[in-house]
Amino acid sequence: MSHLNLDLIRAEFPALNNDCIYLDNAGGSQVLKRVANRIHDYLLTTSVQLGASYAQSQAASEKVLSARRSIAELINAYHDEEVVMGGSTTGLMFLLTQAILPSIHEGDEIIVTDSDHEANIGGWMRLKNAGAVIKIWPVNHDSLALELADLDRLLSSRTRWVAMTHASNVLGTVNPVADVATRAHAIGARLCVDAVAYAPHRLVDVQASGADIYVFSFYKVFGPHYAVLWGKRELLLALPSLNHHFIGPEVLPYKLQPGNVNFELSYGCVGIAKYLIDVGSELGAAGNNRQRMQTAFYHFAQHEDKLAEKLLNYLHSKKQVRIIGHDHVSNNNRMPTVSFVVAGKSSETIVQHMDKFNIGIRFGDFYARRLIKTLALQSYGGVVRISIAHYNTVAEIDRLIQHLDDALN
Ligand SMILES: Cc1ncc(COP(=O)(O)O)c(C=O)c1O
Repeated sequence: MSHLNLDLIRAEFPALNNDCIYLDNAGGSQVLKRVANRIHDYLLTTSVQLGASYAQSQAASEKVLSARRSIAELINAYHDEEVVMGGSTTGLMFLLTQAILPSIHEGDEIIVTDSDHEANIGGWMRLKNAGAVIKIWPVNHDSLALELADLDRLLSSRTRWVAMTHASNVLGTVNPVADVATRAHAIGARLCVDAVAYAPHRLVDVQASGADIYVFSFYKVFGPHYAVLWGKRELLLALPSLNHHFIGPEVLPYKLQPGNVNFELSYGCVGIAKYLIDVGSELGAAGNNRQRMQTAFYHFAQHEDKLAEKLLNYLHSKKQVRIIGHDHVSNNNRMPTVSFVVAGKSSETIVQHMDKFNIGIRFGDFYARRLIKTLALQSYGGVVRISIAHYNTVAEIDRLIQHLDDALN
């Protein structure tokens, strides 16, 4: 049972105060007022260069450091120097693969999936230029999941990296990253996880994930266009510096943040953890900050599952609809990101119909282009995607379904 107080929750997001129904949350979530306030505060009170001895600079340094500590707590990093910040997941992934490039030898194998967003594929593919052999872990066309048995056939003594997504931004499927980590580590390989589609719905725990690298973007998690890459300390230390020649490989995380981080957006992100802690406390959670955040996410998941199940049940009842992903929520198997195609209709038609009623949904490949191609969904123009966040309401899903019904017939 969800006990979320949606009036309180929605009041935290000023943009929700209009008649648009935001159901493109996997594209980008709405932003917390407290995040925006912090960005405003930083820019108007402490916009100076960090690291000088005068008071304003000291205050600015403390704000940016507090952001790193807050994000470390949000993701359960062991050391806060494991937290690398950057403009986007895509940008951070290109930096990472650039830093890995010198360690690649002819014939080293890298496994990527065909169901990831391109952000966790393209940079790895470019390592072919350094002699890497890229193997594709294909999505199973019946189960629409990444099957461990298929991975087992690809792993070898030459495997250096496995790159995969924690949750698919199209299928919604949650992937068994900890099992993959165990398999990869057993043969001396590393695991890189894209958690962009996971982090808005579950409390991230980088340690429990088993991953070596874990990346996601804050604009999907109620914050600004900004992102974090977490890596195990000893792994990050072994990478070369991508910063100026005098910033050595021991200078974490600065060596992987060339040009430095965005100070005001870093500080803004502190508002995300604070929000989650306050929601958890409001729901009666005691204990440390992570326990409170966990309570918040537990209730988000209950609520989101209820909305997703309502939508899935409706879609399931329509013969002309093919749901692309699990068609029910069970056992934590999917995120509330629901994709489908409609026989005889382009996905664009459905979305355009919803535009008329100010219901924000979207169609396309969502940069998981290889997935749309392997599932042969290009002829529809990709999938229609409806992606729910914890601040959506039952009434919004009812209104969506009412208008979908016209669009489908
Ligand atoms: C699963 C997934 N990974 C990566 C990205 C790319 O994130 P960014 O825009 O921060 O590069 C997205 C964006 O939609 C995504 O959905």
